[in-house]
Amino acid sequence: MATPHIGCEKKDIAPIVLMPGDPLRAKYIAENFLENPKLVNEVRNMFGYTGTYKGKRVTVFASGMGIPSIGIYAYELYKYYDVETIVRIGTCGSFNKDIKLLDVILSSGAYCKSYFDELLDGVDIDFIQSSDTINRKIMNHAKLKNVDLKYGKTITSDVFDLYCDDEQKFRGNFPDMNFLSVEMEAFGLFYIAKKLGREAGCLMTVVDSLFDKRSLTAEQRQNSLNEMIELALESIIE
Ligand code: HPA
Repeated sequence: MATPHIGCEKKDIAPIVLMPGDPLRAKYIAENFLENPKLVNEVRNMFGYTGTYKGKRVTVFASGMGIPSIGIYAYELYKYYDVETIVRIGTCGSFNKDIKLLDVILSSGAYCKSYFDELLDGVDIDFIQSSDTINRKIMNHAKLKNVDLKYGKTITSDVFDLYCDDEQKFRGNFPDMNFLSVEMEAFGLFYIAKKLGREAGCLMTVVDSLFDKRSLTAEQRQNSLNEMIELALESIIE
């Protein structure tokens, strides 16, 4: 029962999915965090792996970049593979002065001016919340593991904001809602989850900040990503 973008059987996908943007990060997570990972999708090299984490079946499936890409994979996984929960684990930027590089952020919801919802359903929604159930689990595990998790609103943008000629002008496009993070996928995931009555969350590590211009080592980035991956896995299997 392949779909246009996923080439495996329903039984190959677990009901809970961790979703990095980068296919090679999906491979990294599968090989370093899952027991007995099996490659279940390689259509377009958008790798998906299913294995177990502490005995519970988990799929790690890449989303690619941007709302159109994550929108397709979230739709097919929820609709045709009966996935219940997807947690995006990605990177983000920030132009909030309280946020530092490598902070881990849990999105309370995403603001977006994309045409996605209008084309799909003829509606125009600006802000969509993530799911309380999965957010509560993530917050509880963050407390247990002493992860200083920041919780707040996300901007989902159709452009990589760092490529805008005028960053100030880019920020002027958004209302004053104390956004913690800016990225390019959360709205697409939350929208599809809500449309299909499923759960979705989004954890992010800050890799670009207007107020923190330190340069990071590869090791610092990897440690922070590992902390986020572990937090997501512990929460999703609960
Ligand atoms: N903007 C949007 N998406 C991102 C960024 C950013 O600065 N960093 C990582 N993903």
